[in-house]
Amino acid sequence: MKHRPLGKSGIQASVVGFGAWALGGWMWGGTKKNDPEGAIRAAVDHGINLIDTAPMYGYGHSEELVGAALKGIRDKVVLATKCGMVWYKKEGDKFFDANETGEAEDESEKKYEVYINLRPAMIRYEIEESLGRLKTDRIDLYQTHWQDSTTRTEDVMAELMALKQEGKIRAIGCSNATIDQMKRYQSVGQLDTDQEQYSMLQRQHETDNLPFCRDQNVAFLAYSPMALGILSGKIRAGHEFGAGDVRRHNPWYQKENRPKVDALLEVVRSVGESKDITIAQTVIAWTLEQPGCSHALVGARNPEQAAANAKAGTVELTKPEIQRIRKAVDQTTL
Ligand SMILES: NC(=O)c1ccc[n+]([C@@H]2O[C@H](COP(=O)([O-])OP(=O)(O)OC[C@H]3O[C@@H](n4cnc5c(N)ncnc54)[C@H](OP(=O)(O)O)[C@@H]3O)[C@@H](O)[C@H]2O)c1
Repeated sequence: MKHRPLGKSGIQASVVGFGAWALGGWMWGGTKKNDPEGAIRAAVDHGINLIDTAPMYGYGHSEELVGAALKGIRDKVVLATKCGMVWYKKEGDKFFDANETGEAEDESEKKYEVYINLRPAMIRYEIEESLGRLKTDRIDLYQTHWQDSTTRTEDVMAELMALKQEGKIRAIGCSNATIDQMKRYQSVGQLDTDQEQYSMLQRQHETDNLPFCRDQNVAFLAYSPMALGILSGKIRAGHEFGAGDVRRHNPWYQKENRPKVDALLEVVRSVGESKDITIAQTVIAWTLEQPGCSHALVGARNPEQAAANAKAGTVELTKPEIQRIRKAVDQTTL
């Protein structure tokens, strides 16, 4: 497994990280198909040390699962969680309505109102909740999940820097942030990471956050690098997703886009085949070769997926292989 630094923090994290959103079940059609402990243990056994979760992933459930799975091996991992998505207080920016399993599709399903709230007092409250659920005394990487227009970014960073001084967190990251917001974080302290959506099908950050992070020595953590699973090649056209699954209405999964995704995956498959690796592993390895992209957070529900994804962190793609896939990626517009 290759490792790269988390910005200037001094922390080295595996290039393939384990994303624990799907484990919490929320927006992923429930938890029935999941083996959380098996998946996390397999990830660590196969060299992944970066584990990413958030309070919002199942209203605390994902963090609890991660905390339980790390019993006895906490010190082997770089534990990353987030703050700023709040479902129990109506304060900050209203984000969306939600129910127990995901986003509420209409008023009758509405159970929670989710707010983006990065007020210093809320960060103080959230960190204690996360430490309790994760059963630890420190968070290695603490990230602001989304950006709150009702709180000055400088005040958010001042609070995060205070938490770092107190030893509750070791590195500071943001997510879903603009370059301007990152500059404002940097004006008050050390920003180590930026977590953004980035994959072969979602490349808008190639012209903004990726070059910024590379120039500023900020680690770029790509989220949803498998475009929620479709880039694994296993989801066949016409596949029906269950209630509450975020992929039901996602454009990548709609019938008219499938031929374009399949054409891209055919090129990926042929490059992978020559190296004896799967489509999913080729996708992850290619993503990690893109300028500025230091880490890929990949979601996994079971030990098989976690172990397979870890192997992508050992793959070396040649320049011609990277370019061949790049050509196919650039031709894919959905
Ligand atoms: N900061 C943010 O706002 C934000 C937003 C989204 C995600 N994230 C983070 O990024 C992480 C990863 O993103 P993601 O979970 O959204 O999507 P993803 O990594 O693109 O896709 C995860 C899904 O891909 C499938 N998969 C993974 N490995 C596979 C393999 N080896 N073989 C076959 N299928 C495989 C699984 O689908 P099945 O479920 O069908 O098995 C899995 O649930 C999250 O867990 C979370 O930590 C952050």
